[in-house]
Order: sequence, then structure tokens, then C-alpha cells
Amino acid sequence: MRRIPVVMATPDMILAKDVWGRDSILLTKGTDNIMCYRDKLILNGIASIYVEDEVSDDIYDESVVCDNTREHCTRILSDTIDDARVTGAVDMKDLDVIVSSLIKEMLNNPEMILGLTDICTSNDITLQHSIDSAIYALFLGKLCDFKKRELKLLGKGMLMHDIGKIALDPNILYKNGYLNSEERKHIQRHAQWGYRMLEEDGWLEPPAREIALLHHERLDGSGYPFGLKEEDIPTMPRVAAIADVYDALTSERCYKAAMSNEQAIRILREDAENGKLDKKMVETFVSKLAIYPNGVVVLLNNGEPAIVKTQNRVDSCRPIVRIIDFKNQCAYARRDCDLMEERDLFIVKSHIKVSDLPERLRCQFA
Ligand SMILES: [Fe+2]
Repeated sequence: MRRIPVVMATPDMILAKDVWGRDSILLTKGTDNIMCYRDKLILNGIASIYVEDEVSDDIYDESVVCDNTREHCTRILSDTIDDARVTGAVDMKDLDVIVSSLIKEMLNNPEMILGLTDICTSNDITLQHSIDSAIYALFLGKLCDFKKRELKLLGKGMLMHDIGKIALDPNILYKNGYLNSEERKHIQRHAQWGYRMLEEDGWLEPPAREIALLHHERLDGSGYPFGLKEEDIPTMPRVAAIADVYDALTSERCYKAAMSNEQAIRILREDAENGKLDKKMVETFVSKLAIYPNGVVVLLNNGEPAIVKTQNRVDSCRPIVRIIDFKNQCAYARRDCDLMEERDLFIVKSHIKVSDLPERLRCQFA
């Protein structure tokens, strides 16, 4: 499996993950002849897709939570949120089921290196963001030695952290481009509205509820809704803020391209340096992240493109990669290369586009 820009789809590829547009599924996993759908994908704002082809059929996702669990949890959460829209109440039993299955899978995976590498795999942005940021938060919570009971609270709180968005005006919530100050204030109300919804039910414990209320607070007082500072912000909302920001930056949505992991890590570190996010937690989080997840196409310093094949636990900047070349737009493997051993080679860019390729390869996609 590898992730490619849509314009690089070729006849030999099969789609490796579902692709969703804003309201409906565009293409299902297993679709062949993807080239025929290039225009449809581009028109729907989809910039990249996961594909299987000969050059990548032995490369696997190393997500800390497998796709099946993620899809299963997304389905349950989707029903929970739909019910909440109608009844205004959240079924806590469903949240327990989701969090327990996520924690079970994560605890069975001690060498965690995270690689969610998101594309539009769900039609509901809030839903997908809730699941993925819960996975990131649980990952960080585990690294911070949270007890199982604390992880459960953290997971449930993260699944519900943006529940207040169901009360927002969709025209503002999904608006592309600039938001004026009134619109920004409207969006910011989701924190308090979500907290109130969860408070009314009374079934979600206070530390988990606080995640909905305080996940946009920042340690320097620049956040909302209260502008709290430092020790006034409890541990769980601090974890939630890091997971929330990282997922928002690295997720590809119908209206924006994903930021690469290294760019997102740079922003997290800047926010920590500027006193917004908890510095120790950010470093803990970053130390275990797969900077170049499996299947991502990267550019090496010698100008050669390569696919990330396997992670290196010692240094996540130096994975094992498969150097590729192209003939008639189809990729083929030149050789596998362990960047821990070949120290003169290193990755200079990930999520590469056609324009990043050397001229002799770029012209094949003109
Ligand atoms: Fe939020």
C-alpha cells in the first residue's frame, strides 16, 4: 500500500482505502482502474489516495489501531451522535464500548509508533476527528503513564470533545475560507455547549466532561472559552489540546490538504516553545510518532523518490525505504534501502507531488 497524489494514479492500481466526499462515499476500497475516476476525485477536492500496486503490495500500515477497529468505532460513534442530534442525550454505553476496544488494542501494542496518515475516509469531519484525536490522546495518555481508569475517562472525553458542534450553524461550521469575528465566536461556543449537553446527562464523569469545555484553552491564557492559564488547566484537557491540534493539522479534508507530519510536529513544538501547549507532553508525544508513516512517498536528498516501507524504532527519521523509478507512469522498485545503514542518504520531503519529482520523471505525468 502507498499514498499517492491523485494525478499519479495509473491503470495497474487498486484503491486501498475508501474515499469520501463531503456527503457521500466517492470510491470504495478495492476499486480498480482508478485513473477513470481522477477527474471526479480532483473535482471533489481529493488530493491523495491510498493504493495497492505491485511496487507496494508488501508494505503495510502500522497504525496503532487497525482500520477494522477504527471503522467499527466510527460506525458506533456515528449512531451515537445521530441519536444525540435527535434526543439531545448521549448514550454512554456506546462510548464505553468504543473506548474499551481502542484501549485493548493499544495496550496490546507496546512498541507504539503512530501512523494514522488520514485521508477522507468518512463523510463526517467531526466524527472522524473525534475518533482519530481520541486515538492520539490515548496514545499520549499511555505514554504519560495514565492508569486504565484515567485512560477510559480521557478516551470518552475525547470522543465527545466536539459534541457541541452539532448545535452550530452548519453554514458557518463548514464554511470554506475566512471567518469574521462573529462567526469565530459562534464556532467557539461549541466548547461550552458541548459541556452543557454532557452535564445535563450527568453520566460522563467531570474530568471527561472538562475535556469538552477546556480543550481549546492554552497555557499562556490565549485560548477559549475562559482564557485559563498554566495550573488552572487540568492534565486531561492539556493532553486533549495536543491530540486535537495534531489531528487537525495532519488530516486531509475535502477542503484542505493534509500537512506533513514533520510540519505538524514543528508547529506543535513552536506552540510548546511559545508557552501554549505543555512542553513535556509535546516532546513525549513527538518522541514516539512515526514522522514518515509506512506507504508515504518521500524524496531523498539524491533526488530519488522512495516509499516508506518499515519504521525504525531507534530513529523515526530514518525508516527503511523502497527507492522507486517510473516507466510509462508506472512505479517499479529499484532497491530497498535502510536509512540507518546508508547514512549519506536522508529524507528531504514527504507527501511529494508530481512537481517535486526530478524532470526526467515529472515529464511522464505531464
Ligand atoms: Fe473543538
